[in-house]
Amino acid sequence: MRHFLNLTDAGGDAIAAMINDAMDRKAARAGMPKGAADKDAPLAGRTLAMIFEKNSTRTRVSFDMAIRQLGGTSLILDAGTTQLGRGETIADTARVLSRMVDAIMIRTDDHAKIEELAKHADVPVINGLTDYSHPCQIVADLQTVVEHGLALPGSKWAWMGDGNNVLTSIMEAAGLMHFDMVAACPQGFQPEDEAVALGKGRARVVADPREAAAGADIIVTDTWISMGQAGGEAKLKAMMPYQVTAALMAQAKPGAKFLHCLPAHRDEEVTADVIDGPQSLIWDEAENRLHAQKSVLLWCFGKLG
Ligand code: CP
Ligand code: NVA
Repeated sequence: MRHFLNLTDAGGDAIAAMINDAMDRKAARAGMPKGAADKDAPLAGRTLAMIFEKNSTRTRVSFDMAIRQLGGTSLILDAGTTQLGRGETIADTARVLSRMVDAIMIRTDDHAKIEELAKHADVPVINGLTDYSHPCQIVADLQTVVEHGLALPGSKWAWMGDGNNVLTSIMEAAGLMHFDMVAACPQGFQPEDEAVALGKGRARVVADPREAAAGADIIVTDTWISMGQAGGEAKLKAMMPYQVTAALMAQAKPGAKFLHCLPAHRDEEVTADVIDGPQSLIWDEAENRLHAQKSVLLWCFGKLG
């Protein structure tokens, strides 16, 4: 059973295959209506169920369109209106859904919940974001930088701000795809040692944003307050020196690119001139959620990697 709970479940070779397949499929369907299926419709007859315990725009729409373009269909479950919302166990939900659908994608809070779902499901389970990680986002990010001409091995990425779920998955990607990841995070908001270890020696955390940005090919950030996290003035104040500004971008390599998984908060984690400027890849990055999520689905169904 191929579950995709973290990038390591697939491994570096399969992720490379996902990136290539995503780019090939994207090119092959250029100009087709977005709702039309790819010519080979490799997942015809398959149904993906998606469970959301948190808000989503990109993950929800990209997976919905992804399964349709692969020839399959989807159903979207708001957890609060299912029996999960009334206390039915995750294990029983996994057993029931496995009898009716071909794969399950879930966005939830505690990562242990998705592990429990995968343990009891007889169909692939995909992580659509937990408090711990966001692997589907990072497949799209990797595709985006490769598409823009950067070779992943040996490239240098710099993260700014909160040591969150997106950072965990980028650090994991650094270890699998052999690039360097320097995260600049304020005291009290650094990633767990376990997340840094996923980088297999290629990920490290520093306090100084300029040190992290120096010579970077990619500067990446995310919201300072993730879904379900406590906010507050103290956190915003601690994060302010890590704001991605034009001056910080100037520390990176000439031609360095900017990534943000979105949704963004202009003039908090990034200034509007950077996120809406020529170095920003955010719209390609958002579009690539669709193409990359098709690759994730194909890998889960054993049709890739
Ligand atoms: N980047 C991302 O996962 O966006 P959504 O929260 O809109 O799904
Ligand atoms: N770190 C953010 C990512 C949103 C896509 C969050 O968890 O809210």
